[in-house]
Amino acid sequence: MEIKEITIDALNPEKFISEKVEEISSIVGDRLTVNALSGGVDSSVVTMLGHKALGDNLRTYFIDNGLMREGEPQHIVSIFKNLGVHVELIDAKTTFFNELKGRTDPEDKREAITQAFYQDVFGTLVKETGAKYLLQGTNYTDVEETVAGIKRQHNILEQLGIDPEELYGYKVIEPLIQLRKVAIRKVANTFQLPEEIYNRPPFPGPALAARVIGEVTPDRVKIVRSATVIVEEELSKSGAFQYLAILHEDKVTGMRDGKRDYGLQIEVRCWESVDAQVAFPTQLPYDVLDRLAERITTEVPGVVSVTYNITRKPPSTIEAV
Ligand code: XMP
Repeated sequence: MEIKEITIDALNPEKFISEKVEEISSIVGDRLTVNALSGGVDSSVVTMLGHKALGDNLRTYFIDNGLMREGEPQHIVSIFKNLGVHVELIDAKTTFFNELKGRTDPEDKREAITQAFYQDVFGTLVKETGAKYLLQGTNYTDVEETVAGIKRQHNILEQLGIDPEELYGYKVIEPLIQLRKVAIRKVANTFQLPEEIYNRPPFPGPALAARVIGEVTPDRVKIVRSATVIVEEELSKSGAFQYLAILHEDKVTGMRDGKRDYGLQIEVRCWESVDAQVAFPTQLPYDVLDRLAERITTEVPGVVSVTYNITRKPPSTIEAV
């Protein structure tokens, strides 16, 4: 299927919303539909479109995969509660960590997350609720990068020749597939979503698993989660497009209290970008870098080295996995 982009200049957000609402209702009718909200701008817009189109026939879930940032699941559920949208929190931590166990290859890890999400969690939810459709926020860049073979986005199925109905027992509707992130933010703004959602820096679908090199275990996610709290606190005022912490697989020799400490390495990345297709490292002031190193090595147990990525995308990508 050829997908045609609607550029930011061509987008009329009010018209887009009414057309998509109409399209979703006509596809689904009065059948039950489900969607997963992660709190990212894409899934937030899809949630609003779906509720406008389907009302109570849409059930929205926040899947706690154990890979989200500190306090994120509860926080997102409460934001949507304030918007009048009920979101059910599903604890799927064990399912995801079981699928991820022993996997170290990036594409293999993405595949594990796809499996856990579509088959294990949604497969079960769909069976339990009898839903026929899954509404999701795949965007134009996800398709482009997956089709180009750069990185398999976890939410891409049909473009890879996977028929979700055959494999998982439900159909997938993707109302944002013609839009890039900037255009999706414009729609979010029209929906009057809070600034915190509408202006949220991008966060990958595989969540912190995209930032753990090597095996993704609860303990290793905990380390990258603590480092992420610090990076986000220190860089949220930088105005950068995206900033993140990555946990490396290799250990390095460090020293603490005059003794050898063979410890962990955290890499910090901070990006200037418009659409994530090309990106440049932010020229952060040295005192900011110094504070990051100081805080991460003292507040995150076991870390003895903090590095800052100075590579552009390409050849780097924004995330490490
Ligand atoms: P990369 O790492 O490919 O990232 O330069 C480009 C943008 O996409 C986000 N990203 C993902 N988002 N599923 C997603 O939903 C993924 O698998 C994924 N990988 C990367 C990334 O955070 C950046 O904004």
